[in-house]
Amino acid sequence: MRKKVFAANWKMNMTASETKSYFRRFLNETEDIPASACDVIICPPAILIPQAITQADDSFVAIGAQNIHWEEEGAYTGEISARMVRDSGAEYCICGHSERRQIFEESSEMVTHKAIQALENKLTPILCVGETLFQRDNEETLEVISEQLLASLAGIDETEDIILAYEPVWAIGTGVSAEPRDAQEAIAYMRKIVREQWGDLADEIRILYGGSIKPSNVEAFMACPDIDGVLVGGASLDARDFAEIIQSGLKA
Ligand code: 13P
Repeated sequence: MRKKVFAANWKMNMTASETKSYFRRFLNETEDIPASACDVIICPPAILIPQAITQADDSFVAIGAQNIHWEEEGAYTGEISARMVRDSGAEYCICGHSERRQIFEESSEMVTHKAIQALENKLTPILCVGETLFQRDNEETLEVISEQLLASLAGIDETEDIILAYEPVWAIGTGVSAEPRDAQEAIAYMRKIVREQWGDLADEIRILYGGSIKPSNVEAFMACPDIDGVLVGGASLDARDFAEIIQSGLKA
């Protein structure tokens, strides 16, 4: 059995005081959830990681970064390294989010190096793949997933601890999620690719869906056999909604 994952990506939102009140509310709303039931990961902007760690304290919430640089250290003004993130107490790092791939022109090669940096610094990468609307309309979904995933897996040792996420670009922040059966198909395909590369470890790797997840649709996704969790953007900014997403998702 793969442990379920509920991950929040706050993107470029929240301040230190908002983080404080968010955690107070979120921990209150989730106090009935046993810590062993699932992994809950909150990824705030990097500057808020120390504040989030203080607030999460010894609760069941782990903290992740949204991005890191692919080098260990050096003259990269404005960038943050995996070592800094790990040193701050975070345990996860999103790598290759489509907003990074598109807006900041990150290539699959950069994403692979980021994932390697994360692993070398004992951060679990949450490695994202997903097709654009144009690619989907051209029926290139599986090809794009395969290209992005294979590029990253090639650089990673199969014994490493990683989480994968399928986030179709057209479903992010649009309010229009994928159909659960289409997400299941894409994620089953990802698991097949992992099996071809890493054999039976494919049964252990956790693969998430992300894109317009909300309390009302999470259960349908979590009921799919290959979907092990969700990566939530907009709806994770409201402590009550994110708590409800976890509660509904655990029912599936
Ligand atoms: P939304 O949940 O806002 O669609 O964002 C999804 C996402 O990008 C999570 O990383």
